[in-house]
Amino acid sequence: MDQVSASDRLIAPEILDDAFYEALKGLGMFEDLKHVLEIGSSSGEGSTKALVSTLRLNRHNPVLYCLEVSRARFAQLQRSFQKYDFVRCYNMSSVRSSRVASEAEIRVFYQTHSTALNQYDLATIFGWRAEGLQYLQEHPELDRDGIAEIKRANGIEQFDLVLIDGSEFTGSAELEDVYGAKIICLDDTNAFKCYAARQRLMRDPLYENLADDQTLRNGYSIFCRTDAWGHWRTAKANAIESLRRAQESSRRRKLLTRAKRIGRRVLNAIRGRS
Ligand SMILES: C[S@@+](CC[C@H](N)C(=O)[O-])C[C@H]1O[C@@H](n2cnc3c(N)ncnc32)[C@H](O)[C@@H]1O
Repeated sequence: MDQVSASDRLIAPEILDDAFYEALKGLGMFEDLKHVLEIGSSSGEGSTKALVSTLRLNRHNPVLYCLEVSRARFAQLQRSFQKYDFVRCYNMSSVRSSRVASEAEIRVFYQTHSTALNQYDLATIFGWRAEGLQYLQEHPELDRDGIAEIKRANGIEQFDLVLIDGSEFTGSAELEDVYGAKIICLDDTNAFKCYAARQRLMRDPLYENLADDQTLRNGYSIFCRTDAWGHWRTAKANAIESLRRAQESSRRRKLLTRAKRIGRRVLNAIRGRS
């Protein structure tokens, strides 16, 4: 029997019903959005769902370009969103395999930074990398500079909004290809994927940090260009406000869940005594 490769297994959504999910929804309501790029859509039940839920109502008719390398996840993604003309799904790698971080780079990072990656041993991490590279070797038609191709094919100079949530080992290369975008959202900033990307954006005066939580799952961060222009200035202010609200509502939800848990424990203790 043929073994299904790890890349071709469907996985549970990751960005779901948390502050980052709410923030992505908020950003989808922005004015002045034309070209939105999502790197690592999986089968569409996480971040894609968040973006689509508000982009579909956005009166500026933005287009969402979804990039997913896995053929199985892509098939499901395409099925789920084929009813929306504004969602364009691409089955290819965001950047070609020669741009995947080397084992040496990963080793140095692992030994010098304490992040969520340190929960795993290096052999396991190198195993993930090798599996991703093997998948591209087995499907050479997917081994492309996908971001650059989408830009070229659609006459896009800069994206307005980008989410980087693809391979653990391509975050820096992907940032390179979207640099200059108005808003850049990073997932897994407390891991290898987007650690360096976050550092680079934090250092660049062209960008300011809109939201940042290194304790939510493996950390996320959202950056926006500082050189606001025209409507964009208002849009940016609205974004900051909607991100603030998203974080507040997530904080309230967490408090409520904790309160309910404590309530249940107290109730059980009382029941146990009677
Ligand atoms: C962490 S998951 C994405 C989770 C998704 N954003 C969500 O909210 O549920 C990363 C996804 O990136 C895809 N991926 C991995 N390497 C990629 C590459 N080089 N180009 C595009 N997608 C890639 C994986 O197949 C996987 O579905």
